[in-house]
Amino acid sequence: MEINNVYSIYFSPSGTTKKIVKRISSFFRKEKVSYHSLLSQRKVNQTLSPNELLIIGLPVFSGRIPSLCKELLKELHGMNTPAIVIVSYGNRDYEDALIELKNTLETQGFNIIGAAAFIAQHSIFTDVAKSRPDKKDIEIIDSFSKKCFKYLDFYPNNYKTLDIKGNIPYRKISKMPITPSTNKNCNYCGICSEMCPVHAIDMNNPKNTNKQLCISCTACISVCPQHARKFSGLLYHFAAKKFSKKYKQRKEPEVFIQDK
Ligand SMILES: Cc1cc2nc3c(=O)[nH]c(=O)nc-3n(C[C@H](O)[C@H](O)[C@H](O)COP(=O)(O)O)c2cc1C
Repeated sequence: MEINNVYSIYFSPSGTTKKIVKRISSFFRKEKVSYHSLLSQRKVNQTLSPNELLIIGLPVFSGRIPSLCKELLKELHGMNTPAIVIVSYGNRDYEDALIELKNTLETQGFNIIGAAAFIAQHSIFTDVAKSRPDKKDIEIIDSFSKKCFKYLDFYPNNYKTLDIKGNIPYRKISKMPITPSTNKNCNYCGICSEMCPVHAIDMNNPKNTNKQLCISCTACISVCPQHARKFSGLLYHFAAKKFSKKYKQRKEPEVFIQDK
């Protein structure tokens, strides 16, 4: 099947999901590829035609897709449009996130031709899955992309709903009990406040973070040019140590692709 446009959409507060989505999109060189970050655009509002392809990547938060993405995804519609869905997770587990993303998009008119859960450096406990995706992961990402690309020649022949790991009802979301704070390097530039997807940081005084609103996504840590935002404190250091010990064993990516 001929694909004219590729829409690459991601939510990627600390940048690893974006890296994976871009790598997959790079296999579709002949087509027009555009990128949409849910973090900066905050609106998708698109209906994709059957001759377009959606590539979408989200990070796993608490074994689910981030709640705010679910809201934004409601604006995205397909007309039997093929889609590749991926989640990235920090070597603990992706639980119901991939099936949730797949089911959400299927009910909105997309046909999922490939789905995958890739491991990426944990954005809160950064010692876990450090520097992943690594060379071995990239090889798997590339092989997955190639197979999806090839399957498009046969699509929609033999298309069926993919059988993906995950449970329904989806697991209950638990809120992360730790939030980033601002240190003395802050020069009040306000970039963190601008980028915060849930408007939890006071624009005039970024040292004020609304802990109820904050989803601990780490976008503020990644964008701060002064490196002034961090997780800190005893609770964080204790949790980080315990988490690193528990999830140090390497997990491998899992991919699900249509049979030709
Ligand atoms: C609030 C929050 C919750 C998370 N929950 C999980 C989880 O349930 N399982 C897991 O393995 N990793 C979890 N992670 C780690 C992220 O899924 C992982 O680091 C992801 O690659 C981040 O994507 P990004 O770099 O695009 O922001 C969580 C991270 C955050 C910030």
